[in-house]
Amino acid sequence: MEAIIRPDVDHAVDLVVKLIVSRIKEKPSATLGLATGRTMERVYARLVASGVSFAGCRTFNLDEYIGLPQGDPNSYRSYMNTHLFNHVDIDLANTHIPDGAATDLKLAARDFEAKIVASGGIDLQLLGIGEAGHIGFNEPLSSFMSRTRDKALTPTTRAQNAEMFGGDPDKAPKRALTMGVGTILDARELILLATGPAKASIVAKAVEGPITSMVSASAIQMHPNCKVVVDEDAAQELQGRDYYDFVFANEPEWENFRQPEH
Ligand code: F6R
Repeated sequence: MEAIIRPDVDHAVDLVVKLIVSRIKEKPSATLGLATGRTMERVYARLVASGVSFAGCRTFNLDEYIGLPQGDPNSYRSYMNTHLFNHVDIDLANTHIPDGAATDLKLAARDFEAKIVASGGIDLQLLGIGEAGHIGFNEPLSSFMSRTRDKALTPTTRAQNAEMFGGDPDKAPKRALTMGVGTILDARELILLATGPAKASIVAKAVEGPITSMVSASAIQMHPNCKVVVDEDAAQELQGRDYYDFVFANEPEWENFRQPEH
């Protein structure tokens, strides 16, 4: 794993966008794993502005709420269409989001996993992190071998996402269909982006804490090709930051990524 600390949210987002664009240019038929949430809104805005072509790409989103009607503006399908898919040249038929409105959720979950396998697996999985330590909606105690399945959301997550449901955590969905931790770890590359002071404590636990299912994001420590990109605010509690800064400043891999474009 590498932890990369950028001076502010703009530089952190810039780096992530540059990485995604370079991966798509290297492999125009890339299979991308995508995330939703407030952190990713800036990433998608800049990806759209970059003009990179998604024409050959397939995408799989991490998760979807259970119980929202098709087309609900708070669904992650609506989020993705609004923030990315409607503004780029991707074929919507190649965009996959777990079907949280399915009557048979187990079947929908199996079907989603089968589609990932049929696409050749995920090349690059983008991740955010929740204050409860989730990646996707893998809440505490999610098995590190878990696959796509339905999961009850923690009160912390429902409070974190209440804003979209009139500010009332009780109105936020109670469950979601989410890729498992095992599904995420199968991706060939992981990029986790976290910004803002509210993420500082959980980022330190995920990156430097013990590997534990109490913090699903700590599973990324086991992934052989994982980058965690944070801004200064989210980096505040990292103990090893001097070394992480040294690696970013010296590894040849990062040569083209150190200077922001703006
Ligand atoms: C969303 C997802 C979640 C979010 C996380 C952070 O698809 O998988 O894990 O990435 O809850 O959300 P924000 O960015 O809103 O803080």
